[in-house]
Amino acid sequence: MSVETVMITGASSGIGLELARCFAADGSRLVLVARKGNVLEALAAELRKTHKIQTQVFTADLAHPESPARLLAHLQSAGLKVDVLVNNAGFGAQGKFAELPLGRQLEMLQVNITSLTHLTGLLLPGMIERRRGGILNVASTAAFQPGPGMAVYYATKAYVLSFSEALAEELTGTGVTVTAVCPGPTTTNFGTAANMHTLGLVKKVSMSAEAVACQGHRAFRSGKAVVINGFRNAFPAFLVRLLPRAAVRKIARRLNNVG
Ligand SMILES: NC(=O)c1ccc[n+]([C@@H]2O[C@H](COP(=O)([O-])OP(=O)(O)OC[C@H]3O[C@@H](n4cnc5c(N)ncnc54)[C@H](OP(=O)(O)O)[C@@H]3O)[C@@H](O)[C@H]2O)c1
Repeated sequence: MSVETVMITGASSGIGLELARCFAADGSRLVLVARKGNVLEALAAELRKTHKIQTQVFTADLAHPESPARLLAHLQSAGLKVDVLVNNAGFGAQGKFAELPLGRQLEMLQVNITSLTHLTGLLLPGMIERRRGGILNVASTAAFQPGPGMAVYYATKAYVLSFSEALAEELTGTGVTVTAVCPGPTTTNFGTAANMHTLGLVKKVSMSAEAVACQGHRAFRSGKAVVINGFRNAFPAFLVRLLPRAAVRKIARRLNNVG
């Protein structure tokens, strides 16, 4: 069988970068995508040297609606067929919806939802035809409840989880799998990008990007539809199913620390 090609969005930092390391250790050929091309080039060089794999870098801003189609054209011109798509690129913004810049929130929908869906729609038919590969979507524990103080971000992750689970079911028996990884607080650049004022408690339970990526990668390899990273995150995700929604909203508001 030919070497597996894995495309990872948001590979320049945090969870995406660590996922790139996991797939590189499998010997997969990598296509690394993000805006910071120089960071991707450095990572690609490191992984080529350490794992003797082939790597490609594609610099793209996934907030631009035309980026997924450009990416597909790039793959086709390089003769690459993607076996595994890792939709990891994403960002949040902390603050009350009405007080945050609307443009930034619409960009969030584009990156976290529309580009993820667009890339999936472009690459999934080929996987099904070849009866090989799959999709690993990075959702969040934010997917399990509404998030006052990060309203759009939580809603985007609810979409990612719902979309992933539905696809996983639709694809039963096709040889193609879909996994949604749901990290809780993770030490990456996410908090800075989201301008977060995180509570001490949340910081204390943060996991490393490496641990989150390893668990996500393992879950994907075993064909699991959903994985919540760590018991400290899995338990609250279970608890929200039992609590009244009004209580869940209030707890989320307190944790998001926006008054
Ligand atoms: N950290 C957490 O606590 C946490 C918890 C749950 C879920 N997550 C999810 O994990 C995923 C990865 O985030 P992270 O925590 O690893 O944060 P991060 O360190 O900030 O990494 C985000 C990645 O997304 C890329 N990205 C952001 N905007 C982009 C755009 N417009 N176009 C292309 N790439 C873009 C960034 O690359 P460039 O800047 O180079 O473009 C970077 O590689 C996200 O989907 C996030 O929602 C994070």
